[in-house]
Parts: sequence; structure tokens; C-alpha cells
Amino acid sequence: MGHQQSTDKSSPPVWRAHGGPQGADDTLLDFSVNTNPYGPHPRMVAAIRKAVTPQVLGVYPDPAGSKARQALAQAHGGSPDQVVVANGSAELIWGVVRLAAARMGQTRQWQPQAGPSGGGKTLAMTRLRQGRVVVVEPAFSEFRAASQAHGLEVVPFWLKLPQPGEEWPPIPWHSLSALVAGTKAGAVYLCAPGNPTGQYVSLAQISRFARAHPEVLMVADEAYLTLSGHSVEAGFSGKTPKPDGPPMLHTPPNLVRLRSLTKDHTLPGLRVGYLLADPLTAQKLEQGRPAWGASAPALAAAEAACLLEEFVAQSRTRLQADKLALTAGLKGLGLEPLASDTPYFLLPVPPLKPETIQNDDRAAGPGNQWALALSRFSIRVRDGASFGLPGYLRLAARPAEDRLRLLEAMGRVLETTAPGVL
Ligand SMILES: Cc1ncc(COP(=O)(O)O)c(C=O)c1O
Repeated sequence: MGHQQSTDKSSPPVWRAHGGPQGADDTLLDFSVNTNPYGPHPRMVAAIRKAVTPQVLGVYPDPAGSKARQALAQAHGGSPDQVVVANGSAELIWGVVRLAAARMGQTRQWQPQAGPSGGGKTLAMTRLRQGRVVVVEPAFSEFRAASQAHGLEVVPFWLKLPQPGEEWPPIPWHSLSALVAGTKAGAVYLCAPGNPTGQYVSLAQISRFARAHPEVLMVADEAYLTLSGHSVEAGFSGKTPKPDGPPMLHTPPNLVRLRSLTKDHTLPGLRVGYLLADPLTAQKLEQGRPAWGASAPALAAAEAACLLEEFVAQSRTRLQADKLALTAGLKGLGLEPLASDTPYFLLPVPPLKPETIQNDDRAAGPGNQWALALSRFSIRVRDGASFGLPGYLRLAARPAEDRLRLLEAMGRVLETTAPGVL
């Protein structure tokens, strides 16, 4: 099933793909999204409701988002000028790429060229300099998409996946260093923890890498850190700064940490996220985006999130138990889920028997065959092919009732796997 990924593999074939339903009326049971199935908390909903009254919506939101930034800074034990709030962390990913492109002097210019018949002059957009960025793959696709849209060359750095039952191989920081130096990349994007892998990546090591490459903008996407086994590294401590000091103040100036409130608080439809960065970087990001970068309901949600740490902690505990039960159930079916630090994980899947695959699915990889087979049970899972991993599914932990439905359907699909694969 190809568990090993080589470093010379190119970027995943799918330019941009996401989990989740494509429309609000979707009725599928959804194991493809990684949002907390236990939210949103009623206090979060109440806070957002208060921000959708005619009075609040009738005026522009605070362009500086001061109250939300103040609350987040206090929760992290930092200062508001280290925080940027936006309508989703995806938007911040694009902002960070814009900043990286500008720092690299990524420039294009209108230049005169000979006309079509050799005579006259026309103007053509010419690239004067192309910057490069490194994406640690497999990874969430927005950084890659944003980089390509900004004309940056994306250099993938593929991590090795473990064999089932094994620990994750350590991140090969030396090889990453060599690639960054060799390509003169201006930015590195790393999901910490990994998405889709769920692999833990230590903040201390990320910081060490950033310090060793002060010329590089190191982007740590921590969208799932608070729901992971290493949530303490999120440095999100409610009103009480951690006794050993606020982590955000001790991180190097070229490190940007991206946070999504979508996952913890089940708010993908709202669009709210933030980042933690050095004040100068944060200021540049603010200056490089449109005014009113976060809506009033998004700012209200960010403030409310600072008072709901206990809810996130409870959700984390429940999701850990849900994941254990799901992986145990899958093992009971003879499947071998990979280890993960997050509520989601990768599952290698065997190919289905050719005669049971419907015509249009024949060319698909095993992940796609399974995704299509499960969709016939009204269940959605994430096909690993969208991350360059066609032999895998990514599954998210969900409550018991949903889990039993998935396991039942997977048992039925397994009856149609090619002989001898398990
Ligand atoms: C790793 C990662 N980062 C960022 C995002 C974007 O989240 P948001 O809803 O905050 O834009 C996602 C969404 O799936 C994600 O998986």
C-alpha cells in the first residue's frame, strides 16, 4: 500500500481539496471533517447571537479588533500587537504567503515586447524574480494554493509515514534544513500537528529550526494543536499565564503560529481564526490586508473562545476516547490505523475487488474506491489521494452512534476487498 513517502515526490495531484459537505443541506454522516462534534458551546452561540443584532451589524466592526486581540493576548500571556484576528485561519495563510512573497522580492513587471507580426509593441507581464517556498507534505492545501496564486515555486518536502503499529519516524530536520538552504526558500509551511497525518511536531524543534534559519518565515499551522495530545504547547491558558512563562513570547521573531477557532468550537460557517507572531510581522500582516479583517461575529467568537478553555479540554478528552474506540473497532475488522496525536488519523485501505467496483470508480486508488463505496451508505470519509496518499483514508473521531454506523458500513465494504489483501 506504499507507506513510505520519498522526498522527491512532487506536490499532490489535487491542487486544492477540502473535507466536509459541499452545501448546507448535506445529510451525509461526515467523517471527513475534523471539527469538534461536541460543539459549539451554548455560551459561544449566545456570544455570536449578540453580535448579529441590527445595532452591531449596522456599524463597521472595530478595524483593530482590539477587544478580541486583547482577550487572546491575555489568554496567551502575550501582548495584543502579537495577535492578528481574521475570518478563518485560511485567510491568514494567504496573508502570510503574501507577506513571504513581498519579503522575497517576488516581482513582475509590464515590459514592452514585439507585436504578433514582429512589428509594433505590446506589453507583457514578465516575471523578474521568482521566490520559492517549502511545504512539508502531506499537508493542508491552502498554503500551496496561495503560493501558486502568488507565482511562488512550491518545493515539497515529503515526510515518511510509519508502517502500521510503528511510531512516527522523527522529522528529518537536517534534510529540511538542507532543502531550505539549497533552494533559498523564503518560507516553510508545516502543519503542527500534521494534517492529514496527526503527527506530533514539537514546538521546541520548530523554534530551533526557525532560529537556525532567520532568513526564512517559518509558518506553523497549529489548527489542531488545542485538540491534540500536546495541547499544553498551545499556550492557551485562559486567564492564567503558564508558570513557566508564556510560550508565544519565547518563540523566534520569524515564527508565525496559525490558530483556527473553527475546529475547537465547531464554527466552520462563521470563519474565525488568528495568528501569533512577532509584533513587526503582525503589523506587516495587518497592513497587507483589507480593513475590517474580521467581522463583528468573528471578533465576538474570538473573545468568547478565551473563556471556553474548559469546554475545549472536555471535548479533547471525549474525542480521545472516541478515537481509541474507533481505532479498536477498525483493528477488530483487520485494518491497521496509523498512530496519531489528534482526533483524526490515516487508515491504509486495501483495494476493492474489481468486479464490485462501479465502472466509473475503476481507475481510482483504494482510498477513492472506499470513499465512493462508503458514500453509498451515506457516509463521507476523506480520500487520501487529495493529499497525495491514494492508499489511505483520513478518518475523524466521532461519537459512539456515528462510529457504529461507520464500522458496520466498513465491515460490509470489506466483504468486497480483493482476495488475500488482509
Ligand atoms: C491544517 C489546517 N489549517 C487551517 C485550516 C483552515 O481553517 P479555518 O476554518 O480556520 O480557515 C484547516 C481546515 O481544514 C486545516 O486543516
